[in-house]
Amino acid sequence: MGLLDGKVAVITGAGAGLGRAYAMLLAQEGAAIVVNDFAGVGADGMTPAQRVVAEIRSAGGRAVASHWDVGTVAGGEAILKDALDAFGEVHILVNNAGILRDKSLVKMEEGDFDIVVRVHLKGTYCVTKPVFAHMKDSGRGGVIVNTTSTSGLRGNFGQTNYGSAKAGIWGFSNSLAIEGQKYGVRVWTIAPAAASQLTDATTSEEYKRTFTPERVAPVVLYMVSALSGAATGKTLLAGGGYVSEIRMEMGSGFTPPESFTAEDLAAAIEAGKVLMPERDLKYVNAYGPTAKA
Ligand SMILES: NC(=O)c1ccc[n+]([C@@H]2O[C@H](COP(=O)([O-])OP(=O)(O)OC[C@H]3O[C@@H](n4cnc5c(N)ncnc54)[C@H](O)[C@@H]3O)[C@@H](O)[C@H]2O)c1
Repeated sequence: MGLLDGKVAVITGAGAGLGRAYAMLLAQEGAAIVVNDFAGVGADGMTPAQRVVAEIRSAGGRAVASHWDVGTVAGGEAILKDALDAFGEVHILVNNAGILRDKSLVKMEEGDFDIVVRVHLKGTYCVTKPVFAHMKDSGRGGVIVNTTSTSGLRGNFGQTNYGSAKAGIWGFSNSLAIEGQKYGVRVWTIAPAAASQLTDATTSEEYKRTFTPERVAPVVLYMVSALSGAATGKTLLAGGGYVSEIRMEMGSGFTPPESFTAEDLAAAIEAGKVLMPERDLKYVNAYGPTAKA
């Protein structure tokens, strides 16, 4: 008995890295997998998505490849159609596809900004909308996992485009979790850290050994399985064998008198009443700046 017997999962960007690890683990737990990835045919005559499908099938699992670009409405609808044609329903969606175009702001062209926002943030919208509608209409609900990043939640040098897209995905998820409650659709957000082709250029050999995609995959399995019960609307940071909730916090605050000055606020801040103490955030941006100034 697997944790996901009888379930169907769509995983975007699952031809490599984290998505591939999620696909392998979810398939091992019994889910039929739609392996989406738009990357083209390699020297072996196969696409990365086809290679992952072959791996899943040779381990006895069920999977189909789907090569649509997540960043278009037509692509999102076609991914759902591939899933329904192959397996008749969808219970799980993991929005994972992603790219980087790191540059400091003054060197960032409009195209570098647009493409990153299109693939990550708009891609999350494009795939989620039809899948969410299917989950709602089926009356059975489902689970959606969206992918944010500490670069969006905390910031990182050279990633104003990526940080904007990833913070946007976090906001998208917070609202979708509220909308999903009515229909039994749970929404989780993951901020992963793992060595992959995305981070290769900037990570050490030790990082590559410690931060494997396989050490993140069980967190996604927890999110999409009955193990997480009715939980929804939460974000987990996961990487290198470390998992923690990461969330927005407010301090105890300062209630100014009806009439107050900027100096009054400065005094309250000086007295420690407004700003919150910096906390040591383990593994946040553990792989460091990704772009040169
Ligand atoms: N690796 C990390 O440390 C890290 C940290 C924070 C967030 N993330 C996020 O995790 C996700 C996976 O990253 P990864 O490190 O495994 O990267 P990866 O490059 O190994 O895999 C991403 C896959 O997405 C595919 N893809 C890209 N654009 C696509 C599109 N438009 N349509 C369909 N497929 C597309 C690529 O072909 C690739 O196979 C990304 O969203 C990334 O931003 C990764």
